[in-house]
Amino acid sequence: MSEVRARLPERSESWEALRERLVGLGRNDVDWRGKRSAVYVFHPGEDVLEVAKQAYALYQSENALGPAAFPSLQRMEREVVEMATDLLHAPAEATGNMTSGGTESILLAVKSCRDAAAARGVDVRGAKIVVPRTAHLAFDKAAHYLGLSIERVPVGADLCADPDAMRAAIDDRTILLVGSAPCFPYGLVDPIPALGEIARAHDLWLHVDACVGGYLNPFAELEGVALPEWDFRVDAVTTISADLHKYGYAAKGASTILHRSPETHAHQVFRADAWPAGGMTTPTVAGTRPGGAIASAWAVMHYLGVEGYRDKTRRILSARRRLVDGLSAMGLRVLGRPELSLFAYGMAEDDPTSIYAVWKGLHDRGWFSGVVQAPDGIHLMLSPSHDEVVEDYLADVAAALAEARASSGASGAADGAAPVDYA
Ligand SMILES: Cc1ncc(COP(=O)(O)O)c(C=O)c1O
Repeated sequence: MSEVRARLPERSESWEALRERLVGLGRNDVDWRGKRSAVYVFHPGEDVLEVAKQAYALYQSENALGPAAFPSLQRMEREVVEMATDLLHAPAEATGNMTSGGTESILLAVKSCRDAAAARGVDVRGAKIVVPRTAHLAFDKAAHYLGLSIERVPVGADLCADPDAMRAAIDDRTILLVGSAPCFPYGLVDPIPALGEIARAHDLWLHVDACVGGYLNPFAELEGVALPEWDFRVDAVTTISADLHKYGYAAKGASTILHRSPETHAHQVFRADAWPAGGMTTPTVAGTRPGGAIASAWAVMHYLGVEGYRDKTRRILSARRRLVDGLSAMGLRVLGRPELSLFAYGMAEDDPTSIYAVWKGLHDRGWFSGVVQAPDGIHLMLSPSHDEVVEDYLADVAAALAEARASSGASGAADGAAPVDYA
């Protein structure tokens, strides 16, 4: 390694100089402000970014670990959770918390489920959670952290959770069933009502991972998108994870974990007091919790309101429809029937060209997105601002596709495996 290891400088540097260096450090990052990234960043427009930033800055030093010291944050968190449970059709007693992100919300749902089972006398060591193959890897992480096992179940021909296969995977060690609304790989909503029936029949906890859809689906439905019921309208749904730092457009470090009832939420909370500094009761994984993330989410939700979120969602849906039409017109194949903001597309079944060669051509032209495997495809997670670059993107797909066809040669040899490994 040629780089010199960093050391704390002896002397202070001016903020002006540091600011310049910070901007310089980002020079090779993906150009998300130019709308060229369809993963990692959600671009709702400069005004919303500014509200998120200013609100974050106002509360960046405050700490939600101390509600007695910061009733402001306690109130904002409560109001965010109330707005969320209302949007997701929960009963009035529903409750929850803000967390640092989808992974933490999922971890807490799985922990609550495990501890509720243990409280019923179940031996939870190695107990099983059953998820569709398309569920987020955060469930594997949760199972690993919590001493549980996980079974990933093949999805149906429509790429959604297959209720029969999910039912067949349940055994007497199973404590949790999971569906996504939508799943990350294909942007498809699992049949939550059918999973609910199975959960009821087997007396299982049902978690819906709406990290992507929690703050998008309600507005897509208002815009006329017909989804299977996916939230607390389905009686058997016990918990839902919904990320504010995705389609809630808040600053990063903000998600919600929501419980239908205070009884299950009680299993989320941890209390200890075996030290000389008093008891500590924490509802989430963190001790110190950033006030900025809470204030940012609270402010963006009030800044946008239903009207604002509907407007953002309308732009996303328009971009997706135009992209799907354009890609289909080029003979490319959209995977499943995506209705929301996320989708993946690959080559037509009889086309030997590598979709990953097309991905590389797009990457070389400055577009950054993920990929999926089996079936292989390019993955796009759209932001409202992408409606401004649909035509540019399609033109570059056409060019990348022509290049990929030319270079794959008469043998049709595909050039390469999946090009990215990402969260
Ligand atoms: C469906 C789904 N669940 C969970 C997560 C994990 O969220 P986070 O990255 O905020 O931990 C993601 C992230 O993209 C996701 O798409």
